[in-house]
Amino acid sequence: MKKQLTVLAIMATSLVCCKQQKNDGPAYLNPDAALEQRVESALSLMTLEEKVAIIHAQSKFSSAGVPRLGIPELWCTDGPHGIRAEVLWDEWRQAGWTNDSIIAFPALSALAATWDKDMSALYGKSIGEEARYREKDVLLGPGVNIYRTPLNGRNFEYMGEDPCLAGKMVVPYIQEVQKNGVATCVKHYALNNEETYRHTTDVDLDDRALYEIYLPAFKAAVQEGGSWTIMSSYNNYRGQHVSHNKRLLCDILKGEWGFDGAVISDWGGVHNTLEAIHNGMDLEFGTWTDGLTMGKTNAYSSYFLADPYLKLIKEGKVGTTELDDKCRRVLRTIFRTAMRQDKPYGAINSEAHYAAARTIGANGIVLLKNEGNLLPVAGNVKKIAVIGENAIKMMTVGGGSSSLKCQHEILLLDGIRERAGKDIEVVYERGYVGSVLKEQDGLTVKNIVEERSSEQLVEDALEAARNADIVIFVGGLNKDPHQDSEGRDRLGLELPYGQDALIEAISQVNKNMVVAIVSGNAVAMPWVDKVPAIVQTWYLGSEAGHSFADVIFGDVNPSGKLPFTFPKVLADSPAHFEGKPFPNRGKTYYDEGIFVGYRWFEHKNIEPLFAFGHGLSYTTFEYSDAKISRQTIRHGGKLEVSVKVKNTGDREGAEIVQLYISDKESRLERPEKELKDFAKISLKPSESKTVRFRITEDMLKYFDDAAHEWVAEDGDFVAHIAAASDDVKASLDFKLQ
Ligand code: GLC
Repeated sequence: MKKQLTVLAIMATSLVCCKQQKNDGPAYLNPDAALEQRVESALSLMTLEEKVAIIHAQSKFSSAGVPRLGIPELWCTDGPHGIRAEVLWDEWRQAGWTNDSIIAFPALSALAATWDKDMSALYGKSIGEEARYREKDVLLGPGVNIYRTPLNGRNFEYMGEDPCLAGKMVVPYIQEVQKNGVATCVKHYALNNEETYRHTTDVDLDDRALYEIYLPAFKAAVQEGGSWTIMSSYNNYRGQHVSHNKRLLCDILKGEWGFDGAVISDWGGVHNTLEAIHNGMDLEFGTWTDGLTMGKTNAYSSYFLADPYLKLIKEGKVGTTELDDKCRRVLRTIFRTAMRQDKPYGAINSEAHYAAARTIGANGIVLLKNEGNLLPVAGNVKKIAVIGENAIKMMTVGGGSSSLKCQHEILLLDGIRERAGKDIEVVYERGYVGSVLKEQDGLTVKNIVEERSSEQLVEDALEAARNADIVIFVGGLNKDPHQDSEGRDRLGLELPYGQDALIEAISQVNKNMVVAIVSGNAVAMPWVDKVPAIVQTWYLGSEAGHSFADVIFGDVNPSGKLPFTFPKVLADSPAHFEGKPFPNRGKTYYDEGIFVGYRWFEHKNIEPLFAFGHGLSYTTFEYSDAKISRQTIRHGGKLEVSVKVKNTGDREGAEIVQLYISDKESRLERPEKELKDFAKISLKPSESKTVRFRITEDMLKYFDDAAHEWVAEDGDFVAHIAAASDDVKASLDFKLQ
């Protein structure tokens, strides 16, 4: 007995010791210590040089830790759609590793088109696990810049024209990525709505547009998503670079919104030491270059927040208060990621991730038109002619920093052939030559060099079309320069490479024609009345061919809705109205104000080609029994609207019910109506479900820029329940008192 007691005593003592030992060590090493305690503990031990070292890059994609204290470096990676291939220490060139092939998930414009928060959560979980497995601490995405013009080269990376849609869709992505101990870096904060002159554009706009249109998705990312980092954009706002813009970074982001994380500059976005010190820049990347190309090698000690900053401190010209604040934010990020111990281990190229990419893609595809129910491909079809370069063009490569080296990419033609099997003959004709780039971003693009003349290509395409039961034209844009690409905006709304003429010609020889547009942007469709079926099929990533075939052959009933308006002509768009200059090298004033996207088209009574929120199904839905729980809502109160939706077709399908609200009279001008909520429901044939929306006072507010506050004015409002912004099913009046 005595012996046992002795053993127990020794064990208890050692336990206390190691517990103490754990507590004895500095708090920053104790994973159980509170975050702020760890931050203060680390900060108190760091030298001045170590503090300056952790607030700027040490390589192309990493910033220093504190080796002496065992505080690890912070590793960032692009991008919003998948984990970028490893590059060399101080170069953009691929490092040529053999373990960094990953999955390319659908572009975020496709995710937005699902209008499905569960899809966003699935996306964030999947890409977060891939980032974690690749041992990255910060994922440089997602992007939520508002779709102001259809010419912006990077719209494919963003979530559309409406702040409510983008704001609700970005939150689950962030939350799920960060569960892996990987920080999101929501970008590009803010007003980066065009590419060509993104480094020099100087944006100005009224506060109503700023607060009601361009900031809400970022605010949701910070306050609801809890994003641990934010990327500042290249452009200027009111004459000051956003990377050290007092109003955007200090007053709004960190002041009004209470952001406690780190502001990471876009690569090369910092231009001034004193401004970067005082105006909220926390972690400087990509300097001494124009952000992307030339510059001194290994110039990291020359960064604006490196030696120049240290020198100012040592000369007593600036204090260390700002330095400590920057370090606290960077240390907070390190403790949330690199030094977080209860992280999962992630995974890459898993069946689950491929399944996620495939289902997100299929749910994002938007059926724009389907006259005579040409789609899905009918059972009696024996021969399909697939025409168009985008059926064979790799789209996971190119487009700038979101370019990916993926394990495989199922091209659209691959997907069609696989699904058609041996019962249906599939012939392919390229039809035109567009992109002949053999490599993009250091990655070889599937060799699609062509020998035939363009006349021969057209002739061969028409011949194939003539002899097929159905033609699937796969065109659109690609990620070549001036298409959907970072750094260069599109040159016009039209389809490139003579596609319009080819589509017209094909429609003459075969009426059974589907046009599939691969793009992240709206395009003009002069042939829209000559083609029975049109599908917006985005950049869908590694599983593109499978997602596309799932919808075209009817294995998945499309439910996607447009996250942005398709204008008939460019001049109808608010950013190009009456010949406004574009792109904008210097000062540009967003004089359309809050009237962006459908807000503009409805305000100006311009009919779009396809409206925001539009998307068809292979079944039909009937809306009935719209109700409102009360006729008045008090300040601080709420009410409920509901509607019954029935699947009146013969196959299961999902419908996205949209809630818009109109303010019938207001002191300041407001849009006709604004999206305030949405819900996706799946219904079997003949099944009905009731969809309910809660309306709160906040949803009725507009931003009074003179008073600098959100106000909900007493008076009459209308709740519109809709299947699209131009397809209102029921309108219910109510009053705010
Ligand atoms: C690029 C992009 C940004 C990207 C960064 C790193 O300039 O604007 O989105 O994350 O540099 O590649």
